[in-house]
Amino acid sequence: MKKIGSQVTIAIDGPAGSGKSTVARRVAEKLGLLYLDSGAMYRAVTLLAIQDGLAADSLELIERVKACHIEFADNGKTILLNTEDVSVQIRTPAVNRRVADVAKIPEIRHEIVKHQQRIGKEGSIIAEGRDLTTIVFPDADFKFYLDASVTERAKRRLAELKKQNVDTTLAAVEAEISARDEKDKTRAHSPLRAAEDAIIVDTTDKTINEVVDFIIAQVRKMRAA
Ligand code: DC
Repeated sequence: MKKIGSQVTIAIDGPAGSGKSTVARRVAEKLGLLYLDSGAMYRAVTLLAIQDGLAADSLELIERVKACHIEFADNGKTILLNTEDVSVQIRTPAVNRRVADVAKIPEIRHEIVKHQQRIGKEGSIIAEGRDLTTIVFPDADFKFYLDASVTERAKRRLAELKKQNVDTTLAAVEAEISARDEKDKTRAHSPLRAAEDAIIVDTTDKTINEVVDFIIAQVRKMRAA
Protein backbone atom coordinates (compact mmCIF):
# COMPACT_ATOMS: atom_id res chain seq x y z
CA MET A 1 0.00 0.00 0.00
CA LYS A 2 1.26 3.46 -0.85
CA LYS A 3 2.10 6.17 1.66
CA ILE A 4 -0.76 8.62 2.08
CA GLY A 5 -0.83 12.23 1.06
CA SER A 6 -3.37 14.76 2.28
CA GLN A 7 -6.42 12.92 0.88
CA VAL A 8 -6.96 9.52 2.45
CA THR A 9 -9.04 6.58 1.24
CA ILE A 10 -9.68 3.70 3.63
CA ALA A 11 -11.55 0.76 2.11
CA ILE A 12 -13.10 -2.07 4.11
CA ASP A 13 -14.73 -5.23 2.80
CA GLY A 14 -16.29 -8.19 4.54
CA PRO A 15 -19.41 -10.33 4.80
CA ALA A 16 -22.71 -9.31 6.41
CA GLY A 17 -22.40 -8.88 10.16
CA SER A 18 -18.60 -8.67 10.20
CA GLY A 19 -18.92 -5.28 11.92
CA LYS A 20 -17.75 -3.16 8.99
CA SER A 21 -20.54 -0.57 9.09
CA THR A 22 -20.29 0.18 12.79
CA VAL A 23 -16.50 0.13 12.72
CA ALA A 24 -16.27 2.33 9.61
CA ARG A 25 -18.75 4.81 11.05
CA ARG A 26 -16.75 5.13 14.28
CA VAL A 27 -13.41 5.42 12.50
CA ALA A 28 -15.00 8.11 10.28
CA GLU A 29 -16.08 10.06 13.37
CA LYS A 30 -12.71 9.70 15.10
CA LEU A 31 -10.61 10.62 12.07
CA GLY A 32 -13.05 13.14 10.56
CA LEU A 33 -13.62 11.20 7.34
CA LEU A 34 -16.56 10.95 4.99
CA TYR A 35 -18.37 7.63 5.53
CA LEU A 36 -19.63 5.66 2.54
CA ASP A 37 -22.00 2.75 3.22
CA SER A 38 -21.98 1.09 -0.21
CA GLY A 39 -24.40 -1.66 0.83
CA ALA A 40 -27.02 1.02 1.52
CA MET A 41 -26.87 1.95 -2.17
CA TYR A 42 -27.56 -1.63 -3.30
CA ARG A 43 -30.33 -1.75 -0.72
CA ALA A 44 -31.88 1.48 -2.05
CA VAL A 45 -31.91 0.08 -5.57
CA THR A 46 -33.49 -3.13 -4.26
CA LEU A 47 -36.19 -1.05 -2.60
CA LEU A 48 -36.79 0.65 -5.93
CA ALA A 49 -37.25 -2.78 -7.56
CA ILE A 50 -39.68 -3.90 -4.84
CA GLN A 51 -41.69 -0.66 -4.93
CA ASP A 52 -41.99 -0.73 -8.73
CA GLY A 53 -42.49 -4.51 -8.94
CA LEU A 54 -39.44 -4.93 -11.19
CA ALA A 55 -37.34 -8.07 -11.56
CA ALA A 56 -33.67 -7.73 -10.51
CA ASP A 57 -32.48 -8.48 -14.04
CA SER A 58 -35.06 -6.37 -15.89
CA LEU A 59 -34.02 -3.63 -18.29
CA GLU A 60 -36.56 -1.33 -16.63
CA LEU A 61 -34.71 -1.58 -13.33
CA ILE A 62 -31.40 -0.70 -14.96
CA GLU A 63 -33.03 2.35 -16.56
CA ARG A 64 -34.59 3.34 -13.22
CA VAL A 65 -31.17 3.04 -11.53
CA LYS A 66 -29.52 5.20 -14.19
CA ALA A 67 -32.18 7.88 -13.68
CA CYS A 68 -32.47 7.78 -9.89
CA HIS A 69 -30.70 9.99 -7.34
CA ILE A 70 -29.08 8.34 -4.38
CA GLU A 71 -27.60 10.71 -1.84
CA PHE A 72 -26.28 10.47 1.68
CA ALA A 73 -26.91 13.00 4.43
CA ASP A 74 -25.73 13.31 8.02
CA ASN A 75 -22.38 11.73 7.07
CA GLY A 76 -23.81 8.45 5.79
CA LYS A 77 -26.43 7.92 8.50
CA THR A 78 -29.29 8.92 6.23
CA ILE A 79 -29.84 7.71 2.68
CA LEU A 80 -32.08 9.58 0.29
CA LEU A 81 -33.59 7.87 -2.74
CA ASN A 82 -34.97 10.49 -5.12
CA THR A 83 -34.99 12.89 -2.11
CA GLU A 84 -37.03 10.49 0.09
CA ASP A 85 -35.41 9.29 3.33
CA VAL A 86 -35.36 5.48 2.97
CA SER A 87 -32.86 4.73 5.78
CA VAL A 88 -35.33 2.51 7.66
CA GLN A 89 -37.05 0.90 4.68
CA ILE A 90 -33.77 -0.42 3.23
CA ARG A 91 -33.18 -2.57 6.35
CA THR A 92 -36.36 -4.65 6.19
CA PRO A 93 -36.33 -8.48 5.78
CA ALA A 94 -37.90 -8.04 2.29
CA VAL A 95 -34.87 -6.02 1.16
CA ASN A 96 -32.46 -8.41 2.94
CA ARG A 97 -33.90 -11.30 0.98
CA ARG A 98 -33.60 -9.68 -2.45
CA VAL A 99 -30.57 -7.44 -2.27
CA ALA A 100 -27.96 -10.05 -3.24
CA ASP A 101 -29.91 -10.82 -6.43
CA VAL A 102 -30.01 -7.15 -7.39
CA ALA A 103 -26.35 -6.61 -6.46
CA LYS A 104 -25.20 -9.34 -8.82
CA ILE A 105 -26.45 -7.55 -11.95
CA PRO A 106 -23.35 -6.11 -13.72
CA GLU A 107 -25.12 -3.05 -15.21
CA ILE A 108 -26.46 -2.09 -11.80
CA ARG A 109 -23.04 -2.53 -10.19
CA HIS A 110 -21.49 -0.43 -12.95
CA GLU A 111 -23.81 2.51 -12.20
CA ILE A 112 -23.34 2.27 -8.45
CA VAL A 113 -19.56 1.93 -8.67
CA LYS A 114 -19.38 5.10 -10.82
CA HIS A 115 -21.37 6.92 -8.19
CA GLN A 116 -19.15 5.62 -5.38
CA GLN A 117 -15.97 6.65 -7.18
CA ARG A 118 -17.43 10.14 -7.61
CA ILE A 119 -18.12 10.34 -3.87
CA GLY A 120 -14.56 9.10 -3.27
CA LYS A 121 -13.18 12.16 -5.03
CA GLU A 122 -14.99 14.51 -2.66
CA GLY A 123 -12.40 14.16 0.11
CA SER A 124 -10.91 11.79 2.65
CA ILE A 125 -13.18 8.81 2.95
CA ILE A 126 -13.77 5.49 4.65
CA ALA A 127 -15.88 3.22 2.46
CA GLU A 128 -17.16 -0.25 3.25
CA GLY A 129 -18.88 -3.06 1.39
CA ARG A 130 -17.95 -6.12 -0.67
CA ASP A 131 -15.80 -4.77 -3.51
CA LEU A 132 -14.39 -1.52 -2.15
CA THR A 133 -10.83 -2.84 -1.78
CA THR A 134 -10.88 -4.75 -5.07
CA ILE A 135 -12.99 -2.85 -7.63
CA VAL A 136 -14.17 0.55 -6.39
CA PHE A 137 -10.95 1.81 -4.77
CA PRO A 138 -8.20 -0.63 -5.83
CA ASP A 139 -5.61 2.08 -5.05
CA ALA A 140 -6.99 2.84 -1.58
CA ASP A 141 -4.34 3.96 0.89
CA PHE A 142 -5.56 1.46 3.47
CA LYS A 143 -7.42 -1.80 2.94
CA PHE A 144 -9.00 -4.03 5.54
CA TYR A 145 -11.03 -7.23 5.29
CA LEU A 146 -13.23 -7.88 8.33
CA ASP A 147 -14.57 -11.35 9.01
CA ALA A 148 -16.22 -13.35 11.83
CA SER A 149 -17.82 -16.77 12.21
CA VAL A 150 -21.33 -17.14 10.76
CA THR A 151 -22.80 -17.79 14.22
CA GLU A 152 -21.21 -14.69 15.69
CA ARG A 153 -22.38 -12.59 12.75
CA ALA A 154 -25.91 -13.98 13.06
CA LYS A 155 -25.92 -13.17 16.81
CA ARG A 156 -24.95 -9.57 16.05
CA ARG A 157 -27.63 -9.21 13.36
CA LEU A 158 -30.24 -10.79 15.65
CA ALA A 159 -29.44 -8.26 18.39
CA GLU A 160 -29.95 -5.42 15.89
CA LEU A 161 -33.23 -6.90 14.68
CA LYS A 162 -34.49 -7.37 18.24
CA LYS A 163 -33.89 -3.66 18.86
CA GLN A 164 -36.13 -2.97 15.87
CA ASN A 165 -38.75 -5.38 17.30
CA VAL A 166 -38.34 -7.79 14.38
CA ASP A 167 -39.50 -11.23 15.53
CA THR A 168 -37.04 -13.86 14.28
CA THR A 169 -34.68 -16.61 15.51
CA LEU A 170 -30.93 -17.14 15.51
CA ALA A 171 -31.35 -20.11 13.16
CA ALA A 172 -33.35 -18.03 10.68
CA VAL A 173 -30.84 -15.18 10.74
CA GLU A 174 -27.93 -17.62 10.39
CA ALA A 175 -29.61 -19.22 7.37
CA GLU A 176 -30.27 -15.82 5.79
CA ILE A 177 -26.65 -14.69 6.34
CA SER A 178 -25.22 -17.97 4.98
CA ALA A 179 -27.39 -17.71 1.88
CA ARG A 180 -26.28 -14.11 1.33
CA ASP A 181 -22.58 -15.04 1.89
CA GLU A 182 -22.88 -17.76 -0.72
CA LYS A 183 -24.43 -15.37 -3.27
CA ASP A 184 -21.95 -12.56 -2.52
CA LYS A 185 -18.90 -14.84 -2.76
CA THR A 186 -19.86 -16.89 -5.80
CA ARG A 187 -21.39 -14.29 -8.12
CA ALA A 188 -19.62 -13.79 -11.45
CA HIS A 189 -19.15 -10.02 -11.09
CA SER A 190 -17.14 -8.48 -8.25
CA PRO A 191 -17.55 -11.36 -5.80
CA LEU A 192 -16.72 -10.74 -2.16
CA ARG A 193 -13.07 -11.62 -1.58
CA ALA A 194 -10.16 -10.25 0.38
CA ALA A 195 -7.82 -8.08 -1.71
CA GLU A 196 -4.27 -9.43 -1.72
CA ASP A 197 -2.97 -6.33 0.04
CA ALA A 198 -5.80 -6.09 2.60
CA ILE A 199 -5.15 -6.56 6.31
CA ILE A 200 -7.46 -9.35 7.48
CA VAL A 201 -9.15 -8.80 10.84
CA ASP A 202 -11.10 -11.62 12.52
CA THR A 203 -13.62 -9.78 14.67
CA THR A 204 -15.26 -12.91 16.19
CA ASP A 205 -13.86 -12.33 19.69
CA LYS A 206 -13.28 -8.62 19.41
CA THR A 207 -15.42 -5.71 20.51
CA ILE A 208 -16.24 -2.93 18.07
CA ASN A 209 -13.89 -0.58 19.94
CA GLU A 210 -11.03 -3.06 19.72
CA VAL A 211 -11.44 -3.26 15.95
CA VAL A 212 -11.76 0.54 15.67
CA ASP A 213 -8.58 1.02 17.73
CA PHE A 214 -6.75 -1.60 15.66
CA ILE A 215 -7.65 0.11 12.38
CA ILE A 216 -6.70 3.56 13.67
CA ALA A 217 -3.40 2.18 15.02
CA GLN A 218 -2.62 0.59 11.64
CA VAL A 219 -3.40 3.82 9.81
CA ARG A 220 -1.24 5.84 12.19
CA LYS A 221 1.59 3.29 11.99
CA MET A 222 1.60 3.30 8.20
CA ARG A 223 1.35 7.07 8.06
CA ALA A 224 4.35 7.42 10.35
CA ALA A 225 6.44 4.88 8.40
O1 DC B 1 -23.47 -4.51 3.72
P1 DC B 1 -24.95 -4.81 3.50
O2 DC B 1 -25.44 -6.02 4.23
O3 DC B 1 -25.80 -3.61 3.73
O4 DC B 1 -25.04 -5.15 1.92
C1 DC B 1 -26.25 -5.49 1.33
C2 DC B 1 -26.01 -6.34 0.10
O5 DC B 1 -25.45 -5.52 -0.93
C3 DC B 1 -25.10 -7.54 0.25
O6 DC B 1 -25.81 -8.77 0.23
C4 DC B 1 -24.20 -7.52 -0.93
C5 DC B 1 -24.44 -6.22 -1.61
N1 DC B 1 -23.25 -5.38 -1.69
C6 DC B 1 -22.45 -5.55 -2.77
O7 DC B 1 -22.69 -6.42 -3.60
N2 DC B 1 -21.37 -4.75 -2.94
C7 DC B 1 -21.07 -3.81 -2.03
N3 DC B 1 -20.01 -3.03 -2.21
C8 DC B 1 -21.88 -3.65 -0.89
C9 DC B 1 -22.97 -4.47 -0.73
